[in-house]
Parts: sequence; C-alpha cells; structure tokens
Amino acid sequence: MNEWTVGATGVHNGRVALVTGAARGIGLAIAAWLVTEGWQVVLTDVDRQRGAAVADVLGENASFIAMDVSSEPQVVDGVAEVLGMFGRLDALVCNAAVADPHNTVLESLDLSHWNRVLAVNLSGPMLLAKHCAPYLRAHGGSIVNLSSTRARQSEPDSEAYAASKGGLLALTHALAMSLGPEVRVNAVSPGWIDARDPSVRRAEPLSDADHAQHPAGRVGTVEDVAAAVAWLLSKNAGFVTGQEFVVDGGMSKKMIYVD
Ligand SMILES: NC(=O)c1ccc[n+]([C@@H]2O[C@H](COP(=O)([O-])OP(=O)(O)OC[C@H]3O[C@@H](n4cnc5c(N)ncnc54)[C@H](O)[C@@H]3O)[C@@H](O)[C@H]2O)c1
Repeated sequence: MNEWTVGATGVHNGRVALVTGAARGIGLAIAAWLVTEGWQVVLTDVDRQRGAAVADVLGENASFIAMDVSSEPQVVDGVAEVLGMFGRLDALVCNAAVADPHNTVLESLDLSHWNRVLAVNLSGPMLLAKHCAPYLRAHGGSIVNLSSTRARQSEPDSEAYAASKGGLLALTHALAMSLGPEVRVNAVSPGWIDARDPSVRRAEPLSDADHAQHPAGRVGTVEDVAAAVAWLLSKNAGFVTGQEFVVDGGMSKKMIYVD
C-alpha cells in the first residue's frame, strides 16, 4: 500500500481502461481503483511528470501517456498508442477538467477563459468518445463522464464550469443513443469531494461543520467517486446507460432555506 493506491494490484482481468486527468485527485483514485480490480489502466494527463510518477507507483498494470484532451491530434495519437500497446480498449473515463469552478464576475469574463473551459471539459470528452468509439464497440465497452452537481445548481461566478458540466450531461445521453447497444455511456456528478493530496488533507483537515452539513454526515472522498465509476464500468451495470449518478452525500436533495 502507498499514498495513492486503494489496495494491492489485482489479478489482471484482461480489460483495458483509459482514464483522463489521472495524475491526481479523483482521476488518480479511479485509476488506482481499477488497477485493484485487475484492469490494465492507461493514465493520461497534461502533467507529464506527475502522471508518469503515479503510474509508476501503481505498478505494472498502469502506464502513462501525456495528452491534452482539448487537442484532437493529441487524442488521436494517444488512443493509437493505447491500441499499439494493448490491442484493445474496454473503458473510457473522461475525468480531465479545468476543475476550478470559479470564474471572474460575468462583466469581465474573458471569452478565452470560457472557450478554454468548454474545450477541456466538454469538447475533450467528445473527442475522446469519437476516437475511442470503434474500439469500445468491438468489446462491448463503456464510457463514464465526470460531470458535477454544478450542472444543476450554482453559486455566483461559475458560468463557464457550470455550462461545461451541463453540456457534458447532454453529451452523455446523446452518446448513449449513438453508441448503444454496444457501448454504454453514463455520467457521475460528484458534489464536494476532498480531492486534495493525502498529505494536504492531513495537514489541513476540513472542519466539523464542513462534514456535518451533508445529509451523509461527511464530505466525499475520491474513493466514493471511484467506486461509483467502477460499478458503472462493470458488467453489473449492463442495463444502465445514458444516466447521471449523483455522488454528493445528499446535498442536492437538502432544503437550504435560512429560517
Ligand atoms: N473535487 C470535487 O469536489 C469535484 C466536484 C464535482 C466534479 N468534479 C469533477 O471531477 C473531475 C476531477 O476533479 P478533481 O477535483 O480531481 O480535479 P483536479 O484538478 O485535482 O485534477 C484534474 C486533472 O486534470 C488534468 N487536466 C487539466 N486539464 C487537462 C487537459 N486539457 N488535458 C488533460 N488533463 C488535464 C490536471 O492536470 C489534473 O491532473 C473533474 O472533471 C471535476 O470537474 C470534482
């Protein structure tokens, strides 16, 4: 066991998964979880140094490819590399994002910021699905997109992120119709997940109030999300496609009127 893995490397199950944005946070937890379940996992990220380091830590069933998901040539090359290495692809997890939900006030929102967030968070998953589709179809594969509860609820100054995640939910059900019945496509919408590195989490723990406000009694962990993604990729979810799964400790079902 090490700082990042969730358990020992599992017996290889013969299936190959590509996880974007896997150098840290939720993407890394998903990659680690899938390795534990026996998947061969290809981690991708723009952060080459850290991506290569964590793939190394995850062991022989993990490898790393540098990829900016907003670049179609890089997506094409990356998918070709996966196929060259393993000859098949069974799962795609679109997790990479400009994950900071905040932008400037609307009046000074820069079009270049808006376009970048949309390019990474929405066009990226479309490009990945487009270029992975033939290989996913060949083996009855599955896609999971990481959206957010911010697709449906907002605080001020989060237009770009909210729009990208709302678009991703729509992309999810559109892809489910286009790629079915061979390929299932679903979305996971996390709420507040403490995706900071374990050392930061230990050094700067969240407050009791942070946890207590959640109906589930705590802020979410990266493993809470990884478990949901792994289930959606499994054969046990074979009758589930086009759906959104909210993993938020019940926050989006809570009435929050102030007395
Ligand atoms: N943490 C949360 O509370 C939370 C809540 C809701 C949704 N989410 C979603 O979950 C996913 C992961 O969130 P996180 O908190 O782990 O984020 P994070 O910022 O910790 O990690 C995101 C990773 O994506 C990579 N990345 C950024 N741009 C990229 C690009 N163009 N191409 C490839 N990789 C790129 C980053 O280098 C980073 O390693 C995101 O889609 C995020 O929007 C997170």
